[in-house]
Amino acid sequence: MNLTRSTNSVQSRPMRLVVLISGAGTTLANLIDRIRDGRLVGVRIDGVISSRAAVAGVELARTAGIPVTVIRPKDYATSAQWSSAVTACLDEIAPDVVVMAGFLARWDLPGRYQRRTLNIHPALLPDFGGAGMYGRRVHEAVLRAGAPESGCTVHLVDEIYDHGPIVAQARTAVTPDDTSESLAARVQALERDLYPSVLQRIADEGVAWLDRKFETRT
Ligand code: GAR
Repeated sequence: MNLTRSTNSVQSRPMRLVVLISGAGTTLANLIDRIRDGRLVGVRIDGVISSRAAVAGVELARTAGIPVTVIRPKDYATSAQWSSAVTACLDEIAPDVVVMAGFLARWDLPGRYQRRTLNIHPALLPDFGGAGMYGRRVHEAVLRAGAPESGCTVHLVDEIYDHGPIVAQARTAVTPDDTSESLAARVQALERDLYPSVLQRIADEGVAWLDRKFETRT
């Protein structure tokens, strides 16, 4: 497997990603666009794994010519077996970095992937995260709580959902007239820049950049 430290450097070859999705693939679409138009350089998407079959993200990846593997939890007797299937698929592709992009199943990732797997969440973690917190629900919770600001968080993935050291955040003020739609639109705009900027940094610095000490949350 190819996840050894210092395997990639932008000078020698592109950083190879596998993107994990469960739905519309909006984050995936953004990454594809940016690689295509040269705003994300030295990065290649070598595969997509989807936890659902009939979702727009699968079609999007196929149209972009990216190999897609559908691995559905419901096809496995236990979540551990499903996680092993995801791991086996990743081991075949041997990416430098695994990118969760609206992936809503809990992959029990082996230790060797923990410093090599990123997720983006549409709120300022550690607040408003955890199981069941995705999409509009997150923004509704932020508004209900009267939070003065929201944003998005890129973090390293560990064995706990929406947990793991925070790599980067982008913020926006919550305004009195915000609805979950208006807040979602602003947060998504932040996401479109934040995730690619983190990936560009890793591509430029090499994957060992992910081994540095990020803030660890309790
Ligand atoms: C992204 O906005 C991301 O923040 C969110 O899913 C969206 C992408 O999904 N992820 C989470 O909420 C993770 N807890 P999509 O590609 O299906 O639109």
